[in-house]
Amino acid sequence: MMSHFDSLQWTFCLFVLPGYFTDSQQGNWTFTFPHSIETMIHSTVDIPCSFTGPNDPKKYHLIWYEYGVRSTHQQVYNSDNQSQVHPDYINRTSLIGGGANCSLRIKNMTKTAWYFPEITSSNSNNEQKPIKVNVTGCLNRPTCSDWSFSFPRTIKALNGSCVEIPCTLTSPENVTDFNLIWFLRTPTGDIPVYNNRTRLRVDRRYRGRTSLVRMKWSSCSLRINDVTAEGQFYPGINREINAFNLDEKFCTVKVTDLPMNPEITGTENLTDSSPVNLTCSVTHTCLSNRPSLRWNIHNNQNNSHKVNLTRGNWKEQSDILYIPSIKDHNTSLECKATFPNGLSIVQRVTLFIEDPQSDSGPDNLQNSVIAVTVFSGIICLLLLLLVVFIYKRMKRQRTTVMRRMGETQEPTYADLERSTMEEDYAMLKTNCGGDSAMGHETEPPDYENILKTSED
Ligand SMILES: *[C@@H]1O[C@H](CO)[C@@H](O)[C@H](O)[C@H]1NC(C)=O
Ligand SMILES: *[C@@H]1O[C@H](CO)[C@@H](O)[C@H](O)[C@H]1NC(C)=O
Ligand SMILES: *[C@@H]1O[C@H](CO)[C@@H](O)[C@H](O)[C@H]1NC(C)=O
Ligand SMILES: *[C@@H]1O[C@H](CO)[C@@H](O)[C@H](O)[C@H]1NC(C)=O
Ligand SMILES: *[C@@H]1O[C@H](CO)[C@@H](O)[C@H](O)[C@H]1NC(C)=O
Ligand SMILES: *[C@@H]1O[C@H](CO)[C@@H](O)[C@H](O)[C@H]1NC(C)=O
Ligand SMILES: *[C@@H]1O[C@H](CO)[C@@H](O)[C@H](O)[C@H]1NC(C)=O
Ligand SMILES: *[C@@H]1O[C@H](CO)[C@@H](O)[C@H](O)[C@H]1NC(C)=O
Ligand SMILES: *[C@@H]1O[C@H](CO)[C@@H](O)[C@H](O)[C@H]1NC(C)=O
Ligand SMILES: *[C@@H]1O[C@H](CO)[C@@H](O)[C@H](O)[C@H]1NC(C)=O
Ligand SMILES: *[C@@H]1O[C@H](CO)[C@@H](O)[C@H](O)[C@H]1NC(C)=O
Ligand SMILES: *[C@@H]1O[C@H](CO)[C@@H](O)[C@H](O)[C@H]1NC(C)=O
Repeated sequence: MMSHFDSLQWTFCLFVLPGYFTDSQQGNWTFTFPHSIETMIHSTVDIPCSFTGPNDPKKYHLIWYEYGVRSTHQQVYNSDNQSQVHPDYINRTSLIGGGANCSLRIKNMTKTAWYFPEITSSNSNNEQKPIKVNVTGCLNRPTCSDWSFSFPRTIKALNGSCVEIPCTLTSPENVTDFNLIWFLRTPTGDIPVYNNRTRLRVDRRYRGRTSLVRMKWSSCSLRINDVTAEGQFYPGINREINAFNLDEKFCTVKVTDLPMNPEITGTENLTDSSPVNLTCSVTHTCLSNRPSLRWNIHNNQNNSHKVNLTRGNWKEQSDILYIPSIKDHNTSLECKATFPNGLSIVQRVTLFIEDPQSDSGPDNLQNSVIAVTVFSGIICLLLLLLVVFIYKRMKRQRTTVMRRMGETQEPTYADLERSTMEEDYAMLKTNCGGDSAMGHETEPPDYENILKTSED
């Protein structure tokens, strides 16, 4: 039963028309099978068939023919003598089931053909109305182009975590009964890592780790758990009709050991007692197993939600209402993201909270004012010291020169003395009467004498 089910996975579509075809012309042997079935090129097809006949079923042998025009039928199956089977069909055909079951399995169907069964013990001289097996596939372009798969070309996964490749498909009109398979590209041929009908054909390394993510009917999104290795994956309905065959498309899953850092926003302008919305967010690629976010301030419940970043990327975001308090100033705000693989990563922000009560304004402004004041003070002091130093140095230099040249060269003192004496002398001369205006310049010896006496 299971093996029959298995093989059907390669069957593109099975149209069983209402009412099986029954041929009663064979007397006691009666076959029942559909008028036609459809299968994908290179797939294995099972032709369902049953019969009724005489009580002793061991006394017959069953032959299936491929119908040929003008009775040029070829044996495709012979229960007694396989050497009579046409070379094209050797090793490709087998009966499935037993008893009154004439169901025929044909591997690797390559062309549309008609088939009919026969029991040799009956002296049948008439041909059955055959069953038509329609072969469709990528050689038949309209059929293939009706299928399309859309998914991102690349997606990041956290090592040991899960990843979900978003995928949607469009199928030809009226086609609803199809299988869905995801393949992994390997150098030695592509292997199925997911099969919607059977787990048995799935590669052992992926068995039980893959599943479809059902969002809507047209979804072919694949989830892979415990991703540890990079790989190239593509969806399809069989080995012919798939994203790689049709468009050479596949999705590269890149594995990274480092999770994304959480991000904290909203801490820019905090003022004591005025509430703000803080958010912590982290991106990931596994919607069905989202990372969890935790704040180190526990007065708020963790109300995180998902944000669709498209192409399989999601943002997990936690919003909290925070009322800044001056006692939190300079403390560390933390948000911790924990991923499905158990890894967690913490983001820290040092809170800077302004106190609106203080007149001097924000601390940093105050600090910078103090810094500028102190700095300019020091500069002024240094300049002052420099001026004093230069003055003293100049003065010392001048005294040295004066000492070397002697007292005679002292101009300031002499001039000063001279002008004073001159004035005194003029006044003395005026007071003594006579024509003071005349003969004033003509009496230098007196002046010289006065100067000399006063200096002694
Ligand atoms: C068909 O059945 C009839 C009886 O209904 C019997 O007489 C006859 O021998 C059978 N024919 C064959 C070929 O078995
Ligand atoms: C097979 O093809 C014929 C015409 O070529 C069509 O009438 C029939 O419905 C097809 N059968 C199936 C199962 O698609
Ligand atoms: C099987 O078929 C071959 C070729 O037709 C024939 O030579 C041979 O005798 C047959 N064997 C039996 C057991 O019928
Ligand atoms: C059929 O299978 C047998 C054994 O499995 C093998 O010896 C034989 O060569 C095959 N024939 C063909 C035509 O592939
Ligand atoms: C024939 O046998 C197979 C496998 O046991 C089964 O799946 C199928 O339904 C049977 N067919 C009929 C017409 O009884
Ligand atoms: C199917 O048949 C074709 C040609 O008839 C052949 O090239 C191909 O290798 C076969 N595939 C399998 C899987 O046997
Ligand atoms: C789909 O089904 C409708 C009727 O159900 C039919 O008219 C139409 O031709 C079908 N389309 C295809 C592509 O088979
Ligand atoms: C997968 O299988 C389930 C039931 O086994 C079915 O409901 C669903 O439609 C299938 N999906 C696809 C895409 O084949
Ligand atoms: C993932 O982790 C496993 C074991 O921890 C390691 O062997 C493997 O190389 C890692 N894969 C990548 C792609 O880093
Ligand atoms: C913080 O304040 C500055 C200056 O007042 C302003 O430019 C900036 O937009 C504010 N930022 C936020 C997140 O409110
Ligand atoms: C915080 O966000 C909520 C919802 O978006 C909004 O109603 C509220 O006004 C915001 N509060 C502040 C202080 O921005
Ligand atoms: C995410 O957004 C993309 C683009 O808008 C959309 O196609 C997709 O369906 C969304 N996914 C979900 C699960 O809502």
